[in-house]
Amino acid sequence: MRDFLSLLEKRGQLRRIKAEVNPDLELAAISDRVLGLGGPALLFENVIGSSMPVAINLLGTLERVVWSMGLKNAEELEDIGQKLALLQQPRPPKGLNETREFAGLLWDLIKARPDLDLIPPCHQKVLLEDAVNLDELPLLRPWPRDAGGVITLGLVITKDPETNVPNVGVYRLQRQTSTTMSVHWLSVRGGARHLQKAAAMGQDLEVAVAIGVHPLLVMAAATPIPIQLSEWLFAGLYAGEGVRLAKCKTVDLKVPSHSEVVLEGRITPGETIQDGPFGDHMGFYGGIEESPLIRFHCITQRRDPIFLTTFSGRPPKEEAMLAIALNRIYTPILRQQIPEIVDFFLPMEALSYKLAIISIEKSYPGQAKRAAMAFWSALPQFTYTKFVVVVDSNINVRDPRQVVWAISSQVDPQRDLFVLKDTPFDSLDFASEHIGLGGRLAIDATTKIGPEKNHQWGERLTRDKELESKIDSRWHELGLSDLKNKEPDPHLFGYVMDQLVSLQQTPCN
Ligand SMILES: Cc1cc2nc3c(=O)[nH]c(=O)nc-3n(C[C@H](O)[C@H](O)[C@H](O)COP(=O)(O)O)c2cc1C
Repeated sequence: MRDFLSLLEKRGQLRRIKAEVNPDLELAAISDRVLGLGGPALLFENVIGSSMPVAINLLGTLERVVWSMGLKNAEELEDIGQKLALLQQPRPPKGLNETREFAGLLWDLIKARPDLDLIPPCHQKVLLEDAVNLDELPLLRPWPRDAGGVITLGLVITKDPETNVPNVGVYRLQRQTSTTMSVHWLSVRGGARHLQKAAAMGQDLEVAVAIGVHPLLVMAAATPIPIQLSEWLFAGLYAGEGVRLAKCKTVDLKVPSHSEVVLEGRITPGETIQDGPFGDHMGFYGGIEESPLIRFHCITQRRDPIFLTTFSGRPPKEEAMLAIALNRIYTPILRQQIPEIVDFFLPMEALSYKLAIISIEKSYPGQAKRAAMAFWSALPQFTYTKFVVVVDSNINVRDPRQVVWAISSQVDPQRDLFVLKDTPFDSLDFASEHIGLGGRLAIDATTKIGPEKNHQWGERLTRDKELESKIDSRWHELGLSDLKNKEPDPHLFGYVMDQLVSLQQTPCN
């Protein structure tokens, strides 16, 4: 994480804040404003109640997420996705190019193997039993009705009690006492599955929480990996080199050796406590849930640790930036599953998963409906996508002007909408009648062909390419070279809103 902070500072994307700030509500409120302004990462150096500085908003822009992965632009995220797609469906390579690609991937996997550090920085200070005090951590409480202080960007590490294969996930932890926290993991998560197994075997489950790791490791832990691959190896694949790990002091688990703080503890199956409410990514407070309790008996840390955190809420937030990057990584896998999909986009304003716009190379009637159904079942993370808009491949899914045009000009609502009833529904989504069960809608905004229409369609307005190139070459001569095409912001559907607002603000004479 320190390397990344240095990189941000060098690129003018880190602001140090020396003024005293309260981790209770104030710190998140300041960070939220800075994030909303597209501002830099923040390092709060004087946090009330703790000697640790707080790093936040590190992944507050897509650009910084891309940097954290050692890339130059968002397009390169698809190269990583390409490797994943190859790993997910390996088949004998055809021809020289594919053989080279496959050999490259194997070499990448060899380079990605984790390494063990014997004297790791995270062991510079070791606090055992009575010396453990979670109140020395600058735990944020982001929203006024939140139940307590939280750890939001910790890697929660457990291992399968049967196979010893580790799982690394990012799950919210709530402070309960100075030595205990509850963990909020959904029942499908790796950690929850390990706890179920430990319970069946009559054992406690060991847990380590690594705080202040390189954002790339956060990305790897938050990626729903489609294949049987250890998260450490996966992180190494992201990084292009193996992750350096350290053995924990008191539990049989490994953590990133450069972590700032590591909490070591245990869960006794069946021991639960009320967790929540907390502000969530939908923009509402979630409910109170009985959740497993972790008892911590050891903290290891660097001499001068920095606490890495973030908070949830309605987009834009750091988690939304992460989701944009992850969706980009998933594009090649989606194309592999549904070959007719040319591109797809999940606008951040729709929480990066509620609404999908997909473009297809349409060649037969009814294909848009098939593509929508295929999309919903392609990957687990699309289970809760409520709306799918299908457009032709010549529509830029990231340009709201083109998408809205396609909906307006190609859709007859009585023919082109279809609703599926009583499907799985995000339990954090209050919009449905019943929690966990609701509908979903597909809009076919493609050009209608064959039996889909009963009459002649008007001819589309176009100009010859030659004329357009001629005008391009004359643009300067015409004295218009200061006028350039404004690219739509690919990540904000709000682009259209910005245009409308600025129009409304223009005085009418
Ligand atoms: C900032 C952030 C907070 C998250 N909080 C939670 C959480 O509280 N509970 C949860 O189940 N998943 C949470 N997630 C999602 C999981 O980390 C993610 O789905 C991950 O892939 C789960 O890993 P697993 O499948 O190995 O359990 C969060 C993700 C991020 C980026």
